[in-house]
Amino acid sequence: MIIIKSKREVELIREASRINALALEEIRPYIVPGVTTKELNDRIDAIVRREGGIPAELGYYDYPGSVCASVNEVILHGIPSKKKVLRDGDIITLDLVTRKNGYCGDSARTYEVGICGERQKRMIAIAEECFYNALALVKPGNRIGDISHAIEATAKAHGCSVVHDYTGHGIGTEMHEDPYIACYGVPGTGPVLREGMTICIEPMILEGKSAVRVLPDGWTVVSKDGKLTAHYENTVVVTSDGCEILTKL
Ligand code: MF3
Ligand code: CO
Repeated sequence: MIIIKSKREVELIREASRINALALEEIRPYIVPGVTTKELNDRIDAIVRREGGIPAELGYYDYPGSVCASVNEVILHGIPSKKKVLRDGDIITLDLVTRKNGYCGDSARTYEVGICGERQKRMIAIAEECFYNALALVKPGNRIGDISHAIEATAKAHGCSVVHDYTGHGIGTEMHEDPYIACYGVPGTGPVLREGMTICIEPMILEGKSAVRVLPDGWTVVSKDGKLTAHYENTVVVTSDGCEILTKL
């Protein structure tokens, strides 16, 4: 069931989203060669709590981190670790959910570590392009399949593939609500967008083939071929004539 949010609820999601966006910007200067993903986790945790929020991923189905920290071939749910030291030329995705006053905001960015090559920069840019091409279709009357197709078409135009096993989603009092938003799909299909829907659009793209596997820790999702991955996500509200990104400053 898709929950249409009232103006008041959108403002609560906006506040959680603001904190999320702030944390993902404030962390930027700390993403340098030599830092561990645990150090980034702890800084993000502190920023979220300083702003009166709670890192909602911590303890979610027993997830052990305050943020997902996914390096290079890790596409999703990388667990922050003291042993994972970032190296020059890596790319890392931080995917964060903040809860405040019962409502959630969710976003992800992929960052360069030190000096990256063209391969890495390209992946980051394509994930963002997928998001914005999808966003352009978010308005009342359009359908979820329009969003999904735009993500897939953009990735494919660059010779990349999209993840099939994980999706974007609605958001509100729950981190994950209906509707689910795949990174591939058919235009004109799926639920119709309506004013007051709050959704997370999250292109998860792969440099190589779309196949992924979960490591024995039960969380870490990697590309099967070991090639690079990237992810770009925002929480978005559908307005009367279009949409607005909530997870930005
Ligand atoms: N933040 C992820 C999303 O974009 C969900 C992470 S689930 C967790 O939907 F358990 F790893 F936290
Ligand atoms: Co999400």
